[in-house]
Amino acid sequence: MTPAPLQATAQAQPNIALVKYWGKRDAALNLPAAGSLSITLDALHTRTSVCFDASLAADDIVLNGERDAAQARKVGTFLDLFRARAGVTTRAHIESRNDFPTGAGLASSASGFAALAVAADRALGLGLDAAYLSALARRGSGSAARSIFGGFVEMAAGVRGDGEDARATPLLAADAWPLEVVIAITTRAKKSISSSAGMQASQRTSPYYRDWVATVPHDLDAARAAVQARDFDKLADVSEASCLAMHAVMLATRPGLIYWNGATLDCIQCIRSLQMMGTGVFYTVDAGPQVKAVCLPDAVPRVRGALQNISGVEEVLVSGLGEGARVVEDATACT
Ligand code: PMV
Repeated sequence: MTPAPLQATAQAQPNIALVKYWGKRDAALNLPAAGSLSITLDALHTRTSVCFDASLAADDIVLNGERDAAQARKVGTFLDLFRARAGVTTRAHIESRNDFPTGAGLASSASGFAALAVAADRALGLGLDAAYLSALARRGSGSAARSIFGGFVEMAAGVRGDGEDARATPLLAADAWPLEVVIAITTRAKKSISSSAGMQASQRTSPYYRDWVATVPHDLDAARAAVQARDFDKLADVSEASCLAMHAVMLATRPGLIYWNGATLDCIQCIRSLQMMGTGVFYTVDAGPQVKAVCLPDAVPRVRGALQNISGVEEVLVSGLGEGARVVEDATACT
């Protein structure tokens, strides 16, 4: 048997949900209450190196150049899932970097845990398949299960108590329907309430939570069919409805979860005007104030131009659809 390399580096990209995930059926195993559907981006990257080192007494975790105790605990617990499978207790150095704002509604936890799962699997020589890695990535962040795959991806809620069927599967490759995403960044500040805490608050207090969960399977069927038929208008319709329904649940949470700012709403109104003029674009917004405008390729210049003129929009990024998480560099020993 080839010895495990001990060290590996992986890259993953964030994904944007078109049918949203908001709610858990089990908080300990991080099992979603319903399925979701997403697109993986290609222009925003997380790169994560994992190096298992027998001389370390504790994990050493550096995220975007900083050591943060709360994040380190979360990452260390996540790594334990891999150590347990490998039958080792060796601690690790982890270095992870995003080339986009972290914790501001750009799905940095999705790409972060997907990259970490792939790097840890390779470094420990586990050789887990992508489906299994997706279920493990979910333990770090629900949306991370989707960033294991590229293009259009569907996440299953699953029914098993152990969560092994709560994992993503690829629906359609990125190049099979090359949509583009224009992202309007309206602030670089970190959000005040994490998705996990927000979801649990909605579950406890939002009067619309149960109805929301009940609508998701129908939205998933409609979105899946739209993707399979490359029907942009149908995908637009279901995606905007899913986004607004999720935000309605958030707003009705006590205290209310308002992730938007004024520019968020201005961007949505601008996209609605562009739609009325026949532009192939629709919007979606996650647990943060950034607006993601999903476009047919020929609509990109017009959408980018319109969004960057809105007061409060700090920057506009454009991304196509990309691949899933993958190993990008290997070494045979820790460096
Ligand atoms: O994966 P989490 O725990 O960061 O939650 C993601 C929640 C949303 O981004 C709002 C929706 C989604 O499906 O990605």
